[in-house]
Amino acid sequence: MSTHIGAAPGDIAPTVLMPGDPLRAKWIAETFLDDARCYSEVRGMYGFTGTWQGRPVSVQGSGMGQPSLAIYANELFRDYDVQTAIRVGSCGALTEKLAIRDLVIASGACTDSSMNHIAFEGLDYAPVADFGLLRDAAAAAPEAHVGLIFSSDSFYAARPELVARMVDYGVLAVEMEASALYTLAAKHGRRALAICTVSDHIVTGEETTSQEREQTFGRMVEVALTASQP
Ligand code: ADE
Repeated sequence: MSTHIGAAPGDIAPTVLMPGDPLRAKWIAETFLDDARCYSEVRGMYGFTGTWQGRPVSVQGSGMGQPSLAIYANELFRDYDVQTAIRVGSCGALTEKLAIRDLVIASGACTDSSMNHIAFEGLDYAPVADFGLLRDAAAAAPEAHVGLIFSSDSFYAARPELVARMVDYGVLAVEMEASALYTLAAKHGRRALAICTVSDHIVTGEETTSQEREQTFGRMVEVALTASQP
């Protein structure tokens, strides 16, 4: 096992979906995968492997925020040779171009995290999605918005006006993990994508019910699984 994932080598498929919530990982495994088996319960951050259309697929909870996701993404890429990681999560809409429950496929992810500033000694690195995954997800979900998102270190923004400034530069939505996932995939030479559904609207104040979140979550998982096909 690795430091935070209780799986033996070979227990984890080359393709992994990464929801933030470990109970979503369980729901995805039970709803979409055949013969799913739990490979890790370390810290309650469940991981499952099963098959989808006959192909092995894993689902690993990432937790919330870039430091947590980075732990799991690092170990998946380094210790389990994972080739493709797709985040499936929620986001907050920053613009009226988006409506509640819309799908957002992140072509790139801005951030206020210090992780890359430390790694690149103050230079700005531009974390972007794998082009093939992005193209295939966009084709599988013609209704989705494709564009920039903002991976924030704070759910409760200390300076909301700075987030608003991001919108002037084309950013569509805010979440908390994609930037680290894209950076780590690039570092390890692997493929990554983040697909999010709008769970709350920062401009209008609307929120989704838990039932709505489940339905839109299902659509997002279908898109992720379709895009991840070789
Ligand atoms: N994920 C879903 N909604 C969010 C928000 N408003 N801010 C950050 N991450 C989110």
